[in-house]
Amino acid sequence: MTEWLNLKDQVVVVTGAVGGMGTKFTEDFAAQGANVVLMDLNEEKLNSWSKELADRYGVKTLPIVANSTKEDEVNAAVDKVVATFGKIDILVNTAAILRFSPLEDLSVDEWRTAVDINLTGYFITSQAFGKQMIKQKSGNMVHISTVAAIFPETYSGAYSSTKAGVSMLSKQIAAEWGQFGVRSNCVLPCLVETPMSHAFYTDPEVQKGRSRLVASKRIGQLDDISNAVLYLASDRSDYTNGAELKVDGGLSIMMQDMIPKPGGRRQYAIDHHQK
Ligand SMILES: NC(=O)c1ccc[n+]([C@@H]2O[C@H](COP(=O)([O-])OP(=O)(O)OC[C@H]3O[C@@H](n4cnc5c(N)ncnc54)[C@H](O)[C@@H]3O)[C@@H](O)[C@H]2O)c1
Repeated sequence: MTEWLNLKDQVVVVTGAVGGMGTKFTEDFAAQGANVVLMDLNEEKLNSWSKELADRYGVKTLPIVANSTKEDEVNAAVDKVVATFGKIDILVNTAAILRFSPLEDLSVDEWRTAVDINLTGYFITSQAFGKQMIKQKSGNMVHISTVAAIFPETYSGAYSSTKAGVSMLSKQIAAEWGQFGVRSNCVLPCLVETPMSHAFYTDPEVQKGRSRLVASKRIGQLDDISNAVLYLASDRSDYTNGAELKVDGGLSIMMQDMIPKPGGRRQYAIDHHQK
């Protein structure tokens, strides 16, 4: 796997690096021998996770406290990465928030906060690191979006709208910067067990009820998402640009299957099959 992905000595920047997914991505990149830049808000967590990765995998790591919505902090992060490593190979945009609210109760401030972090933050980091990639004539971006970018996540305020924006931003980057050797793709996870959602799955009814909706009949794990991210971040996907990779076990292609039929869909088909 290490040789197949060829990520050794690549310089990878991950935003949201100490969140549920970010922790997994940074570890998997480090395990492949990549040097990892960890960007997030919590200095203590960043420093300790960064040190642990360097000790465990013998790679170089660089923790940077930076708010992805603040241009000056992100620009300073780019300077720091270039001063330390001389280049930036991969950017993984992960930092986002999900806040619940029915639309009719959502304040404009709450809407703006979500747009600021989930969409404008992705733009700010993409532009700042992208300028360096354009200069280098090479670079690769993977943006964590969600299946909720396509199908609305009800009662989640601006979340789906912001993520739909991320999917289009990624395509626009691909279309404008492909000529400079920069690729941009999205990963769209759904129904994944993360530290945040773990509590849901301790209820066997929820576990069973959710698994039943998925074509693959199981809940996604962090490995499933991380494998997709590493593939898109590697040269193995070199001719994939502006794509959206759904990693949802087939949940999103199951709509017709969710519509009840007398006796159950499969039984109905068996009973009415013309031999
Ligand atoms: N968890 C899921 O099941 C799921 C499903 C689909 C998509 N996603 C997407 O995956 C990504 C990560 O989700 P997660 O479960 O790891 O969430 P998380 O809350 O565990 O991690 C998010 C991280 O982003 C950081 N962050 C938030 N705002 C920031 C800012 N302004 N600047 C810098 N860092 C900031 C947080 O500090 C946190 O460490 C998100 O983009 C989310 O939309 C998650």
